[in-house]
Amino acid sequence: MGSYTISVIHGDGIGPEVCAEGVRLLEALGQRYGHSFSFTEYLAGGAAIDATGDPLPQATIDGVKASDALLFGAIGGPKWENLPQDKKPEAGLLRLRKELGAFANLRPAIVFDELVDASTLKPEVVRGTDIMVVRELTGGLYFGTPRGVEGSGASRKGFNTMVYEASEIERIARVGFETAMLRSKKLCSVDKANVLDVSQLWRDVVIEVSKDYPEVTLSHMYVDNCAMQLIRDPKQFDVIVTGNIFGDILSDEASQLTGSIGMLASASVGGPVGFFEPIHGSAPDIAGQGKANPLAMIGSVEMALRYGLKLETEADAVAAAVKKTLADGLRTGDIMQPGCTQLDTQAMGAAVIERLG
Ligand code: IPM
Ligand code: MG
Repeated sequence: MGSYTISVIHGDGIGPEVCAEGVRLLEALGQRYGHSFSFTEYLAGGAAIDATGDPLPQATIDGVKASDALLFGAIGGPKWENLPQDKKPEAGLLRLRKELGAFANLRPAIVFDELVDASTLKPEVVRGTDIMVVRELTGGLYFGTPRGVEGSGASRKGFNTMVYEASEIERIARVGFETAMLRSKKLCSVDKANVLDVSQLWRDVVIEVSKDYPEVTLSHMYVDNCAMQLIRDPKQFDVIVTGNIFGDILSDEASQLTGSIGMLASASVGGPVGFFEPIHGSAPDIAGQGKANPLAMIGSVEMALRYGLKLETEADAVAAAVKKTLADGLRTGDIMQPGCTQLDTQAMGAAVIERLG
């Protein structure tokens, strides 16, 4: 029985709707297991720009750092798209990841048996898929300098830098190997070492680290091939470890194996406070209509329990309740199938809570 302070950042678009379901779920778990969760809301993204002019106010950074875990909805939207790069909602999210030292982003893509027909791929291709993408989150192309746009006219030049220090590669590689040790001991490191120098260093360091994990079978794959293999034969993968930009792209691709990006949760860890967020965006087109699938947020709560608060029993209970909800034929619009019952965001959240056992 514990007492936990949870920071909540609703953000923009469907962020508030899915966050509400995450909070309700934690409250229900608190009652069942005798924990006390207290919630404090902070601003980030477009909502913070509107209120303070800054996508990541200092009060948010300080508050989140003093809490036990962060639940994050989603940020961004057309309203803020034309702001300068460092004033955009996304810049706030990137700064927050960096401030929290959350360098390891775990993104599971699990195909539930109940949803094999929801994927755009053939059921026999996706059935049984269970992949963990370990994405480096605080370095690489997203943060490298120099960056910017310079010059004028036809000679205007835009540039970013993909840069990794060996120490950054080593620590994310270790997360990859540790994750593999807890699963089927297979790790695939994804890079572009046939072209990029930074990727050759990535590969060399991953191989060095592999000496500490003799039980793990390590393979390497170029990112273009990986993008192809993920839809050709996703079951060949177990744990994938890769850099920031490759992980961003491959995790969206992996999400579609499961039928909907509305299913994918993530945990960003490595710093003092874990950061838990759905991988879907703010989906402004469906915001405020009760259409959002809360299962990615509910999965993020499960990850907060498992990786952040170390409450394994409670995490298992959430996973089981989600499975039961799907087995009972309950669906949101994005994963709707013939013969199932379509629910809105709140009803789906409630259905999971009812099935906590
Ligand atoms: C993600 C998102 C973010 C990213 C955006 C919103 C900055 O796509 O979490 O995958 O690129 O990391
Ligand atoms: Mg992304």
